Amino acid sequence: MPWKRRPFNGRNIASAQNIADLRAAARRRVPGFAFEYVEGGSEDEATLNGNRTAFAALRFVPSTLIDTQGRSLATELFGTPCSAPIAIAPTGLNGMLHPHGDIALARAAAAFGIPFTLSTLSTTLLEDVAREAGGRLWMQLYVMKNRTIAEDIMHRAATAGYEALLFTTDANVFGSREWDKRNYSKPGKPRLNAVLDTVRHPRWLSRVLARHGIPRFRNIENFLPPGATNAVGGSTIIPQMFEATLTWEDIAWVREHWPRKLLIKGVLTVADARRAATLGCDGIVLTNHGGRQLDYCVAPVEVLEEIASAVGDRLTLMLDSGVRRGTDIAKALALGADGVMVGRATLYGLAAAGEYGAKRALEMLTTELDRVMGQVGCRSINDIGPHLLRRAARSAER
Ligand SMILES: Cc1cc2nc3c(=O)[nH]c(=O)nc-3n(C[C@H](O)[C@H](O)[C@H](O)COP(=O)(O)O)c2cc1C
Repeated sequence: MPWKRRPFNGRNIASAQNIADLRAAARRRVPGFAFEYVEGGSEDEATLNGNRTAFAALRFVPSTLIDTQGRSLATELFGTPCSAPIAIAPTGLNGMLHPHGDIALARAAAAFGIPFTLSTLSTTLLEDVAREAGGRLWMQLYVMKNRTIAEDIMHRAATAGYEALLFTTDANVFGSREWDKRNYSKPGKPRLNAVLDTVRHPRWLSRVLARHGIPRFRNIENFLPPGATNAVGGSTIIPQMFEATLTWEDIAWVREHWPRKLLIKGVLTVADARRAATLGCDGIVLTNHGGRQLDYCVAPVEVLEEIASAVGDRLTLMLDSGVRRGTDIAKALALGADGVMVGRATLYGLAAAGEYGAKRALEMLTTELDRVMGQVGCRSINDIGPHLLRRAARSAER
């Protein structure tokens, strides 16, 4: 019989090799509608796919015969030590993947000595995450039409000791995730095949749904109309609450309410990055929301170098969207990022095996980053620079 490669079958998490394997495990363990909520991009998914293509187009040019014994991933973000240049990105509805999903992710981040970012649309109160997980916590802010919601979040996050606020600016108009929508006959009403698929996941049903009910938007539920406080009812109301009138003038208003580190999450142009610096922001997140908002959007890694040369000395630069490998992290750092944020990578781990799965995801990413550093001749994060990279087309020509 000819030898056949065997891909990971998604069963035994301990033998998962990489984030793609965790994704396969996640697909087995949660119902299709929950997996699709995580997985999908907007419209043609050109942005989603482009995020991976953009990383793949960058190739390393390694130096050789360099002593890389004793490598360290340690770095600083906002002057505070961080064991690796990674933070967990904010994602709403984590409780749909695993009970207490936010706390599980935050604990995994704390165990790795990296920041965790809680979404405005989390299924756990921000105070509970601070109490139960500790560690370095950042808070994500969606400013909705009712501005009192944002004021409440900022006030509570400051009181609970959150270190930084990530003001998301690329969701003023909600993206259309068509694969996600196909699971519902109308918003919040799953189709028969989605229901049948859910029944085929009895462990998820008993652990998530039977024990905790439909996940609720705990942080903002006091502001939601009755019936819209959970993932089912909220799916129609919440997109309508997003605020399309936001402008740079609103940064001053955010600043009035938020005394600590402030990052704008959604910057992709040099002009906007400069504006953020001029207005006294501390950092930006270069992102296209993991391909869930604007379709046919540039990948953050494609504009990173120009933004880094314009504002890298004034702002902390985080980058997300498409990070699945240690090599991706090394590429982002080489082009000027101070760190990356991961969304789906740790969500796959969470969906596959809760806190343990999220830790596995972080372990994979940090092990891979350490390995690539050794292979390209870097002993510390500061050694990683643009000299390590070529665009794939150019390196093929040589
Ligand atoms: C399921 C899911 C939910 C998300 N929810 C939010 C959110 O509530 N607020 C936000 O600013 N970004 C949200 N994002 C975007 C992430 O913060 C991040 O930008 C994106 O996931 C990065 O891309 P990646 O998933 O390829 O790592 C979400 C992403 C996913 C996958």
